Amino acid sequence: MVRLEVGDAEHEVVTEAWAPIARGQVDGDAVIREVAGQVGKTPAQVTLRWHIQRGDVVFPKSVTRSRVEENFGIFDFELDESAMAAISALNRDQRTGPDPDEFTYIPG
Ligand SMILES: NC(=O)c1ccc[n+]([C@@H]2O[C@H](COP(=O)([O-])OP(=O)(O)OC[C@H]3O[C@@H](n4cnc5c(N)ncnc54)[C@H](OP(=O)(O)O)[C@@H]3O)[C@@H](O)[C@H]2O)c1
Repeated sequence: MVRLEVGDAEHEVVTEAWAPIARGQVDGDAVIREVAGQVGKTPAQVTLRWHIQRGDVVFPKSVTRSRVEENFGIFDFELDESAMAAISALNRDQRTGPDPDEFTYIPG
């Protein structure tokens, strides 16, 4: 059983995924689709499970009842180390929203 911990305990910071399934784009990723096939889950479920095993809080958004139900179906399986590493290696420094280093927080 994987022990789920939330956030960065050392610094007492809880992290939340900004757009946890990349606004649906994870459906098109070959690696995530392959892991999903191996564990018998959908790409969205695999991605949400990856987040919570990392310790991130997730709030996936959906207006579709079947997807809301699907997105709750992530507590009856685990990703092994190899699947976790394969998904973590997908980082492309790609953003779905503004870069916080360049964002204007105070309107000019
Ligand atoms: N406060 C802030 O600054 C801030 C910033 C960003 C996001 N948020 C909030 O964080 C939440 C998530 O962010 P987000 O909506 O940008 O990104 P997200 O949750 O990664 O993606 C939502 C999109 O994915 C689709 N989707 C949901 N479940 C799916 C599934 N199982 N399979 C395939 N597609 C699926 C949804 O479509 P349908 O709805 O059509 O089903 C929607 O188009 C939202 O509630 C948002 O309001 C807040």
